[in-house]
Amino acid sequence: MSMWPRNASFNSGELFLSGISAKDLAKEFDTPAFFIDEDDFRLRANAWNQELLESFGQNAGTVYYAAKAFICVEVARWIAEIGIGIDVCTGGELAVALAGGINPAKIEVHGNNKSVEEINSAVKARVGTIVIDSLYEIERVALAAKSAGVVQKVLLRLTPGIEAHTHESIATAHEDVKFGFSIASGAAWTAVLATQNHPEIELRGFHSHIGSQIFGTESFGIAADRLIEFLGKYRDEFNAELPELDLGGGYAIAYVPGDKELTPHKVLPALFKSVNEACKKYSLSIPKISIEPGRAIVGPTMVTLYEVGTVKDVTLEEGGQRKYISVDGGMSDNIRPSLYAAEYTAVIANRASTAPLTDSRIVGKHCETGDIVIKDIKFPSDIAPGDLIAVPATGAYGRSMASNYNHVPRPPVVAINESKARIILRRETISDLLSLDI
Ligand code: LLP
Repeated sequence: MSMWPRNASFNSGELFLSGISAKDLAKEFDTPAFFIDEDDFRLRANAWNQELLESFGQNAGTVYYAAKAFICVEVARWIAEIGIGIDVCTGGELAVALAGGINPAKIEVHGNNKSVEEINSAVKARVGTIVIDSLYEIERVALAAKSAGVVQKVLLRLTPGIEAHTHESIATAHEDVKFGFSIASGAAWTAVLATQNHPEIELRGFHSHIGSQIFGTESFGIAADRLIEFLGKYRDEFNAELPELDLGGGYAIAYVPGDKELTPHKVLPALFKSVNEACKKYSLSIPKISIEPGRAIVGPTMVTLYEVGTVKDVTLEEGGQRKYISVDGGMSDNIRPSLYAAEYTAVIANRASTAPLTDSRIVGKHCETGDIVIKDIKFPSDIAPGDLIAVPATGAYGRSMASNYNHVPRPPVVAINESKARIILRRETISDLLSLDI
């Protein structure tokens, strides 16, 4: 069940989310729609926080939830209540975090091209940390801090030169990327020196994020080692130790049967071991370690419900048949299959079926062949218009990457908790879309 939210269950073939049937949910909220298990979200966020504290003890920094995975004001309120931090990477995400009442001191601001306006609003809001990504930004943040009359804490984003084993578009810490300063090329050291000219910024340490949907623990350890070696260089040069490291997010979740998620308990004790060894090797005291899980908190907490509109049997050139099952959403609510060849699984959510399984493809309603939800799946051959299809693990980078392609209004997010369902982000309407036209 690891792809499904904690409170999902099946009864006579029907899916129930926290005790409410998929049929009732579809009737009340229409489809397509995202359903988030609030209890699961809170437990997952707490589990990362708890394990960071247990693994790192007094050296535990902050768990920053990566808002890009999914954020809305209500979820920001949950984050505020849970008491962890948040990583935002645009002015928009910052605004949502503040609207949800998150303590600005627990906000960390990312982005490889933050606008001057975004920097100014972050500094004025008194965010805890800005992660600096270019030499220009050192000047811009210093100027913003000077005019606000504050000293801004910053980290430098570094690329430790790691080939993370994941899709090319979501690997971020090899050398040839737009993010951060490379340690190997000397750019990182140039940036360190540039921070020294500005009393308005306080360099607290370094940051790296090696990529996303990473199943193994070793790459995180290697990144930690390289960053700690660099902390050693700083100490040798300035005779002072920097107090913080942020090692980013990227922990994998299960999307299809057989995937093994990287749980806090699997990764954080191993990370502590790597950090501890590296600090010994370079004779440093252990800095405060922060992390930024996004997908690993929200990913498995959401399910997308679609309704089937048409079913078509297509004869394949190589022989055989494929059943094309069209649902009422598609690449506008889940771009990941087309963008990263991401795999998902699905079930019929409204009934049991004993029909034989047949080669099928679940597709969306967009005017594009690549509009695929699931490329290859064995599905009951009696699937028919009006059936509901549930796709699990759509919480991360689903609604947050949704678009209005073909002028399709984006689906709502409905929170379910203790057998009660409520809309936390409403469905867009055609009027919302038309309201932008002049
Ligand atoms: N921290 C930083 C600096 C990041 O850039 C990211 C993700 C995260 C944390 C959170 O990573 P997570 O724990 O969620 O893997 N749209 C892609 C993922 C792009 C991730 C970008 N940065 C996808 O759908 O797979």
